[in-house]
This record gives sequence, C-alpha cells and structure tokens, in this order.
Amino acid sequence: MAMSVIQACRSLALSTWLLSFCFVHLLCLDFTVAEKEEWYTAFVNITYADPAAGGAELRSEKSECGRYGEQSPKQDARGQVALSASPADRQACDPGTRFNAPASGKSWVALIPRGNCTYKEKIRHAAAQNASAVVIYNVGSSNANETITMPHAGLEDVVAIMIPEPKGKEIVSLLERNITVMMYITIGTRNLQKYVSRTSVVFVSISFIVLMIISLAWLVFYYIQRFRYANARDRNQ
Ligand SMILES: *[C@@H]1O[C@H](CO)[C@@H](O)[C@H](O)[C@H]1NC(C)=O
Ligand SMILES: *[C@@H]1O[C@H](CO)[C@@H](O)[C@H](O)[C@H]1NC(C)=O
Ligand SMILES: *[C@@H]1O[C@H](CO)[C@@H](O)[C@H](O)[C@H]1NC(C)=O
Ligand SMILES: *[C@@H]1O[C@H](CO)[C@@H](O)[C@H](O)[C@H]1NC(C)=O
Ligand SMILES: *[C@@H]1O[C@H](CO)[C@@H](O)[C@H](O)[C@H]1NC(C)=O
Repeated sequence: MAMSVIQACRSLALSTWLLSFCFVHLLCLDFTVAEKEEWYTAFVNITYADPAAGGAELRSEKSECGRYGEQSPKQDARGQVALSASPADRQACDPGTRFNAPASGKSWVALIPRGNCTYKEKIRHAAAQNASAVVIYNVGSSNANETITMPHAGLEDVVAIMIPEPKGKEIVSLLERNITVMMYITIGTRNLQKYVSRTSVVFVSISFIVLMIISLAWLVFYYIQRFRYANARDRNQ
C-alpha cells in the first residue's frame, strides 16, 4: 500500500518534470528563436477630376491598402502620379528611365509595376529623378490583394510603398486616359508579425528529442538498478 503511494508520487513527479520541461522549451521557442518582423500599412488617397462629371468634380478615394518598404522612412508623402514615359519600359528597370513627371519644382510620385528587376533598382531610378515617393504595385501574384514588405537596403531616404494589383491597375487606367491623379500617402498602423524559421524549428525539435532520450535512458537505468537491487535482495534471502 505504502509502496504504491510512493510509486504514484514518483510518476507524478516525473510527469510534472516532463511537463515543465516541455513548457520551458516552448518558452525558449517563443523568446529566442521566433523572429519578429515589424511593418507599417499606408493610407493611399487618390484624388482626380472625374471626366464623367465633365472634369469639374473632384473624386477622391482613400484606403489603407499600402505597405511601407522595409527601409523606407515611415512618413507622409504626396505628389502627382507619374508613369514611366515609355510604355515598353513601364517596369523602370533601365537606369535611364524617364518619367512623365510634372514641371520641375512640383512633387511627384512614381508608379511602377513589380517585376523584371529588384525593388531597389526601381526605387533608385525614380529617386534619382527626384520623386518624392515610389509606389510599386503587385503584378501576377496568386492573391491579387497581396502586398509584401519590400526589401531595399541602401535606399533609406525615399518613401517607398507597395500597393495591391487592382489599385495599381486602376490608377494606371486613369493615367492612360490623361487624367491628372494626385496621391497622398499617410502612415497607417504598425503591425508586428512573429514567425518561426524552419531551421530553428528543426534545432528545437532535435534538442527536444535528445533531451527526451536522455531522460528516458535515465528512467530505464533507474528501473534496471532497482530491479537488480530487488533481485540481489531475493537471492540473499
Ligand atoms: C484625400 O486628400 C485630399 C487632400 O488632402 C482631401 O481633400 C480629401 O478629402 C482626401 N480624401 C479622402 C477620401 O479622405
Ligand atoms: C528587363 O530589364 C532589362 C534592363 O534591366 C531590359 O533590357 C529588358 O528589356 C527588360 N525586360 C522586360 C521583359 O521588360
Ligand atoms: C533634383 O533636384 C536637384 C536639387 O533640387 C536638382 O539639382 C536636380 O537637377 C534635380 N534632378 C532632376 C532629374 O530633376
Ligand atoms: C480584394 O479586395 C477587395 C476589396 O478590398 C475585395 O472586394 C476582393 O474580393 C479581394 N480579392 C481577393 C482575391 O482577395
Ligand atoms: C494623352 O496625351 C497624349 C499626349 O499628350 C496623346 O498622344 C494621347 O492620345 C492622349 N490619350 C488620350 C486617351 O487622350
């Protein structure tokens, strides 16, 4: 009777130990190996004279559809929207790309589709022509509404945001009808995304398995010792 109580206590202690071990592991996973990514959304307000209303009425749309680039300053920007001047090089991959920018002195915003070269090159080409912001729209993504945090290390002084494909196409179709579009970019909300990289998952699983094996080996060793001890006692009697 007393023996089984002691045994129950032992197994309880053991399972408590294992549980707290798992818990500590999970905490480790959460605090040390989980990587954090911080990103900001951007409000995009486009304002233009509606030709359907004879060009007299200003139409304005605002939505929180943009997403700031990783190294972009998180600040407001505004200006007239301009596409690349040559339809063959809409992607602004050529360092000599000209934009349909307004007369110098007026601020303007470059609108560039994604693709063919890196975000950094596109941003650099537009910034070299004094764009006050660079807006890159997604193209050919499986989810049309998707935006990512663009990496563009080294270009830290120009506002760069990404907008979803439908929004980009909408503005391009306005510009192709020679409508002047003004864009006001304002900072949206801060987001914190936690994710666990594959290598850290593998690392943690392996260390977990190793420690599990060590504790199991210890358990087996412990019971064998006990068994031997009991046997020896039986033989001595
Ligand atoms: C967009 O910005 C302009 C200028 O700041 C403002 O007049 C207009 O009301 C804004 N539109 C929306 C929908 O907020
Ligand atoms: C991609 O960009 C290069 C310049 O970087 C250009 O020569 C080429 O024509 C572009 N290709 C397409 C499909 O736009
Ligand atoms: C950009 O701005 C600088 C200084 O304001 C000026 O000297 C330069 O000519 C401008 N470049 C273009 C392409 O407008
Ligand atoms: C994209 O967003 C718009 C409105 O924000 C929505 O009507 C549309 O269904 C969405 N499309 C996808 C593929 O999520
Ligand atoms: C837009 O303007 C350009 C030149 O300014 C002209 O060649 C083109 O035909 C115009 N497009 C439309 C749709 O009015």
